[in-house]
Amino acid sequence: MNGQSKFFESVLSSSLMLVNCIGRGFTYNRNWAATPHSQPRTSDPNPFRAFFNARKEGRGIWKWDHYFDIYDRHFRGFRGRDVHVLEIGVYSGGSLDMWRDYFGPGARIYGVDIEPACKSYESEAVKIFIGDQSDRNFWHRFRAQVPTLDIVIDDGGHHPEQQIATFEELLPHLRPGGIFLCEDVHGVFNPFTSYMHGVTHKLNDFEQARENTEDTHRRIACPTTPFQAAVGSVHFYPFVTVAERNATPIAELVAPKHGTQWQPHLK
Ligand SMILES: C[S@@+](CC[C@H](N)C(=O)[O-])C[C@H]1O[C@@H](n2cnc3c(N)ncnc32)[C@H](O)[C@@H]1O
Repeated sequence: MNGQSKFFESVLSSSLMLVNCIGRGFTYNRNWAATPHSQPRTSDPNPFRAFFNARKEGRGIWKWDHYFDIYDRHFRGFRGRDVHVLEIGVYSGGSLDMWRDYFGPGARIYGVDIEPACKSYESEAVKIFIGDQSDRNFWHRFRAQVPTLDIVIDDGGHHPEQQIATFEELLPHLRPGGIFLCEDVHGVFNPFTSYMHGVTHKLNDFEQARENTEDTHRRIACPTTPFQAAVGSVHFYPFVTVAERNATPIAELVAPKHGTQWQPHLK
């Protein structure tokens, strides 16, 4: 068998294994037996939910309720800072008020929408850009006018091609420690989810890992790929996907061994 045939055979067998594992995961999920609901955990009141529930009139906000917990989990560390936040999908302007309330007066808020009427929500603290999130030339112009961002929330058109273009154009424009959050990733076998699974598969790249039997501090060491150096994690929630950039670039992933007593069956 020549090199090319070997390559295609290995691609085919990896693809079959992937499809098989996706099917197994899908079936495991579908067959999960219903369990009685326990009492909800009492937790600190969520500032997003409080703001949303208090909005009885005025500029509209339209969010899934469970998003508020996801926002607070990923955005908490940015409160009260000079944070640069972009939301794609302005609609009736109310969510821009919510970001401002949560992050505080030092926050700089940006909005993007395809609908020209949304320009009316521009103010001293909020800059609005009118454009199509699937247009990469639009993002090119946007990046030339806006400093690097801490947080991007994609609540725009929700089509996978729009979501992919936005992710690819804005992830490099995030500051170290920045967060990219994509909303309304709906439906089983959603193409944006599959795209992000591809990103995540490559996040586990282990090709360059080396064993160092003499060095317990770097027992296994793996130089990072450029993406691993920049991006620390990808999170999947119902209808939401989040990617977080590392606060500082990571050059190497290491697995040290600590302790002096070891079972002999592993080296
Ligand atoms: C669900 S609404 C946004 C809701 C808003 N963020 C809120 O929380 O109330 C979606 C918005 O995305 C905008 N939109 C749709 N397609 C777009 C595109 N290709 N580029 C930019 N914005 C788009 C729509 O005009 C609409 O205002």
